Amino acid sequence: MDSGKDTFNVTITGGAGQIAYSLIPLVCSGQTFGDKIRINLRLLDIEPMMKVLGGVAMEVQDCAFPLVNSVEHGFDPKEMLKDADVAIFVGGFPRKKGMERKDLIDKNVSIFKEQGKALNEVASSDCKILVVANPANTNCLVLSKNAPNIPAENFSALTRLDHDRALNQVALKTGNTVNDVKDIVIWGNHSSTQYPDVRFVKIKGEKFDSKPDEEFYMGEFISTVQKRGAAIIDARNLSSSMSAANAANNHMKDWYFGSEHIVSMALITDGSTYDMEKDLCFSFPVKCKGNFKHEIVTGLEINDFSQEKMKITMTELLEEKQLANIE
Ligand code: NAD
Ligand code: LMR
Repeated sequence: MDSGKDTFNVTITGGAGQIAYSLIPLVCSGQTFGDKIRINLRLLDIEPMMKVLGGVAMEVQDCAFPLVNSVEHGFDPKEMLKDADVAIFVGGFPRKKGMERKDLIDKNVSIFKEQGKALNEVASSDCKILVVANPANTNCLVLSKNAPNIPAENFSALTRLDHDRALNQVALKTGNTVNDVKDIVIWGNHSSTQYPDVRFVKIKGEKFDSKPDEEFYMGEFISTVQKRGAAIIDARNLSSSMSAANAANNHMKDWYFGSEHIVSMALITDGSTYDMEKDLCFSFPVKCKGNFKHEIVTGLEINDFSQEKMKITMTELLEEKQLANIE
């Protein structure tokens, strides 16, 4: 893959948190952007976390990653996002037991407004952005609205974890390995309204017939994937971090290197696909073309059941947009 660059300035926010602790080694060891791209790593967190963040930066140095040119840390978004080629927004207030992801909107809108403005002012105008922090889709929309110098197609939010969870559920149900299962789709919000859709799945290259287990795939399967994040929080008393970091790595890796199969990415809508309202951050089936180019897979059949499910999750995103006071 030739991006024309041999070094990426990579900013990770929430650098002192759990997900970052699993994600940083993936980025720095070359799993994300391969072994040709060198990394200038910038870690951002809030001021009270500077001692911890300093410790994380020390550990990055002690890993002696051959690809890492430099590691900096700080609490000023304008310093840490300066000339960023890639920015992964993990920092925010995590969901606690009993909270819905949208309960976090109040706490996160102001963070993402400020960071969006900083991104606009100091990052590379072609910066590629992934938002992980919840409510991920709406945070991404807030960020994009506050960074008009950066093209809307450069913004994405993470639904790859849901995608990978759904692949695994199909593998378990059908007795296959997860690597045999491809082309699942997550539509909509990274929330309990998301619509995991098995209708286009292929197993070992063959079209998968979900009809014999239709009740399962239209019911229990969907709710298991929708509620998997809450199940992890219930079990760990912490939200998922290893799997979230792995999903963020998969998302960026496929965006950069390309994906043969469908992946799910939440993208800013322009109103032209699947009857979706304009200006939402909605998860779609996507094929990545390499060098951070991607295309929404269009023309997939939307039956009545799917239409209804997509409408539910779109309505939730419209509500979140309203709660976040986005015009
Ligand atoms: P964490 O609490 O361990 O870490 C979050 C870090 O963000 C903390 O160090 C905190 O100090 C920092 N932070 C808070 N405000 C900040 C700000 N304004 N600027 C920079 N940093 C700031 O949480 P975590 O487990 O790493 O999760 C991070 C986020 O990712 C949460 O919002 C969580 O809900 C979300 N999440 C999303 C997915 C997904 O699939 N999209 C999956 C898992 C978790
Ligand atoms: C997840 O899906 O694991 C995260 O978004 C955490 C959560 O709030 O569910």
